[in-house]
Amino acid sequence: MELVSSAWKHASASMLGKNLKWRANFPLRIWYGMDPFDFFFACKEKYGDVFTFILLGRRVTVCLGTKGNEFILNGKLKDVNAEEIYTGLTTPVFGEGVVYDCPNAKLMEQKKFVKFGLTMEAFQSYVDLISSETQSFVAKGKPFHGDSGTIDIVPAMAELTIYTASRSLQGPEVRAKFDSTFADLYHDLDMGFSPINFMLSWFPLPHNRKRDIAQKKMADTYMEIIKARRAAGGKRDKGEEDMIWNLMACVYKDGTPVPDKEVAHMMIALLMAGQHSSSSTSSWILLRLATRPDIQEELLDEQKRVLGEDLPPLTYDNLQKLTLNAKVVKETLRIHAPIHSILRKVKSPLTIVANTPEATNTYQIPTTHTLMSAPGVTSREPEFFPEPMKWEPHRWDEGHPLAYTRLGTDQEEFEDYGYGMISKGASSPYLPFGAGRHRCIGEQFAYVQLGTVLATMVRHVKFRQIEGKQLVPTDYSSLFSRPMAPAVVEFEKRKSVKEKN
Ligand code: HEM
Repeated sequence: MELVSSAWKHASASMLGKNLKWRANFPLRIWYGMDPFDFFFACKEKYGDVFTFILLGRRVTVCLGTKGNEFILNGKLKDVNAEEIYTGLTTPVFGEGVVYDCPNAKLMEQKKFVKFGLTMEAFQSYVDLISSETQSFVAKGKPFHGDSGTIDIVPAMAELTIYTASRSLQGPEVRAKFDSTFADLYHDLDMGFSPINFMLSWFPLPHNRKRDIAQKKMADTYMEIIKARRAAGGKRDKGEEDMIWNLMACVYKDGTPVPDKEVAHMMIALLMAGQHSSSSTSSWILLRLATRPDIQEELLDEQKRVLGEDLPPLTYDNLQKLTLNAKVVKETLRIHAPIHSILRKVKSPLTIVANTPEATNTYQIPTTHTLMSAPGVTSREPEFFPEPMKWEPHRWDEGHPLAYTRLGTDQEEFEDYGYGMISKGASSPYLPFGAGRHRCIGEQFAYVQLGTVLATMVRHVKFRQIEGKQLVPTDYSSLFSRPMAPAVVEFEKRKSVKEKN
């Protein structure tokens, strides 16, 4: 049996060899930090699917491939743990008693509350709200100044994402506050996710002090909203389907209603978890569309063909019929998933068998190691996705030459981890929302949000790459990857919007 520590020595020693790429001259953590996929693929080629490197003082064992995804993401609770890794970073931002500041069983209950709050009625009301926020952003938002011009996509999409999420999931009171106080508080709170906080989240650095003040103010604001709603008799207007209402009515299995403070903290968690991932994805969608005017026209044609030439208002039901629209989101998440690395703490010694370029090895992973899963690697592998770095939404059409190749019998398995039946999913090479008990709870919301923003944008604006400019590379310097700023493209409002202005 080969020990992982010997694999580590082998890896680190060989990385310093002469014939490797220039990046290999950097310490591994810097190479990883600058371009994790370049790092993963180079290590995979040399050492196979399992290898160890040192990151921020920790021995991190990476397990790639569909087997590696399965091993980590569907690992047993007694073997792998998320909260011990994430809590230092997330608890000061979200607040106590929720997500990674509670036992896993409690998180599963909280995920169930959120999942069951995302009802069909909720989604139906969200499409209308998100679409009207997007229309007014295109018509009046500062980034879309004039009938045509250039736009820096990343800050523009960050702003729009906050408006659409707050107007729908977070509720009208929170949306109103984003026009005033919340934007600054949000910014200060967000600084709590600086990568340095993986090590120093407790240290009274200026950004951490601001984070703590912002967390308290934001939680207090949510609690005031809850109190005011209760004082008004707890009655909601028809069509008010936000998550605060839902959580206010939830009761833990032991009979305890969710305390207001935990409702507030869960709302902050949902705001923060959704913001970066959705705004990064919508930015990539628009940047990719700017390189493919043909797909923009196809998307508009699809809407006219399926919904009618007069383009009636978007609804949840008619959004489901826009298959190319959904494929644009899906293909963007294949190459540009915002979370490139998923971490777990090893709780009991683990054994994994993996292929190296020369042989099949068995590795033991001790409890001193952290596990890293990177499902974005399998979604970039040519054995599953021909010409993997080509952004082609039509590869999701049946029979397309670039279609996803199912290897072997990847039969879908289902399991209930405590928040309803979900696909275990880790045998799939396409896992932008993770898998297993920590699988994303916001997937359906993200599809509604991104799909509605995309369908609305296509109706009102055309995007074009600036002549001579290339698609920007990815910025991996923060916890969530996103397009490197500035990512500027040209826009031109379609006639319908120009007339309204
Ligand atoms: C977890 C991706 C949007 C809430 C995750 C995980 C991934 C992910 C990969 C798993 C992390 C892990 O296993 O350690 C994404 C992507 C999104 C998205 C690609 C959009 C394109 C959202 C939204 C929300 C949300 C909109 C909230 C409404 C959460 C929460 C967790 C999570 C609360 C933690 C679940 C747990 O640890 O059990 N997300 N997410 N996400 N996501 Fe998302």
